[in-house]
Amino acid sequence: VVLVIGGFTAYIAWSFANASISTVGEVEFARPLAIPPLAKSTVDAAGVRTFDLAMQAGATDLGRGEPTPTWGFNGAFLGPTLRATRGEQVKVNITNGIDETSTVHWHGMHLPAGMDGGPHQPIAPGANWSPQWTIDQPAASLWYHPHPHGETAKHVYRGLAGMFILDDANEVALPKTYGVDDFPIMVQDKAFDGSKLDDRAGLFQSTGILGDTVLVNGTPGPFLDVTSERVRLRVVNGSNARVYRFHFDDNRPYAVVASDGGLLPAPVETNELLLSPGERAEIVVDVRPGERTVLQSTPPTGDSNRFTGASDRLDILELRGAQTLTASPVVPATLAPAPDLADDTVGATRNVSLGGSNTNFGKMDLERVDIVSTLDTTETWNVTNADGQVHNFHIHDVQFQVIRYAGGPPPAVLAGWKDTILIPQGETVELRMRFTDFADASSPYMFHCHLLRHEDQGLMGQFVVARPGEKVGAIDVPDHDG
Ligand code: C2O
Ligand code: CU
Repeated sequence: VVLVIGGFTAYIAWSFANASISTVGEVEFARPLAIPPLAKSTVDAAGVRTFDLAMQAGATDLGRGEPTPTWGFNGAFLGPTLRATRGEQVKVNITNGIDETSTVHWHGMHLPAGMDGGPHQPIAPGANWSPQWTIDQPAASLWYHPHPHGETAKHVYRGLAGMFILDDANEVALPKTYGVDDFPIMVQDKAFDGSKLDDRAGLFQSTGILGDTVLVNGTPGPFLDVTSERVRLRVVNGSNARVYRFHFDDNRPYAVVASDGGLLPAPVETNELLLSPGERAEIVVDVRPGERTVLQSTPPTGDSNRFTGASDRLDILELRGAQTLTASPVVPATLAPAPDLADDTVGATRNVSLGGSNTNFGKMDLERVDIVSTLDTTETWNVTNADGQVHNFHIHDVQFQVIRYAGGPPPAVLAGWKDTILIPQGETVELRMRFTDFADASSPYMFHCHLLRHEDQGLMGQFVVARPGEKVGAIDVPDHDG
């Protein structure tokens, strides 16, 4: 099973034996993979689970001999993994200790727009922000990152990102011990200027930054000592622009068990998976005693620039099986209920086109509401990639069901809930979502391309969820210069 992109036969026919593909640099897997700590939290008498996140500047050794200036949450680079269970109330006390206005957005989270952490919730240097909401969605691998107006690419690139894992009481048996057989895998490519993280790289290319060094959880050249028969890798594409096609060097099959919004209806066995910026996938990989295998990304022949901006293979992470492995559960044949919006009555159909002069929602404007959705209705959004560039599509607040993908039914890996999706050039994807909560006609959520340079350049729009008949109020535009 491959994630077939409509129309590209070269993509399907691509072969691992292609001799023209070389590995970028010499990746020596010499450092143990860093595992972000689970964030500490306290639960008060009312049951509210509270986390603390401090944005701070520091310096980090990213494999270039000397430390480079970076940003992180509760540390110098990246952030801890937040974890909460469905039904819980959570609160996050955020302090901004960097010298620029930023925000913290909960990517994939269903929550009120005022808690969303988009460009309407800026946190000035030295200021605090404490959003609070109730977790009301299935178990999933979400993530958090800044979303300041026009500056998202820089803030994420410098290191402000982390995972937010949601649990659910009735999850099926999968490897689930954090840091033992269940691992966060935040994949980010970086460019360097000497030993310095280069955030001016890509300034003159439309996709933005594409780096030749891949970090996983901030670790260059990482290896992971595997001690169980199967490992669950919660893969986040936390890169600014790169689309990865993940496979192992020995082309071994693995099971994709979850996408952005949680578990798939059934595991999908594959040996390669495309993931664009912002997307997540959970995969379960079998490992035999004593063996080594390398997670790599290779773009399809001929289509390199269309997807990844580079024709080279990237070595990402080496898995090293211990001589003795503990037993792991077999991946269940069914995982979670499938999305169920296909037969809904559609209250509105939106056509959104991304790219060039064909962008039909204009350049992002914090004061303008592009789409007014009605509470308790199901909508169809037809999203088209209208130019020759790489684009994907992300919507805040809701998870969507993919009804059609590039002219056909969605491939099995897109059969679950999604919040971010790659849109091939010239193609349309038909998405369906339902707006069930948090009506507030003057409080916008975002939708946008998740190539962060495109987002910063204005390939983003705003929608509100309104009660039937409710008028859109004036949108307060926050100050981002602080
Ligand atoms: Cu991951 Cu609007 O962002
Ligand atoms: Cu784009």
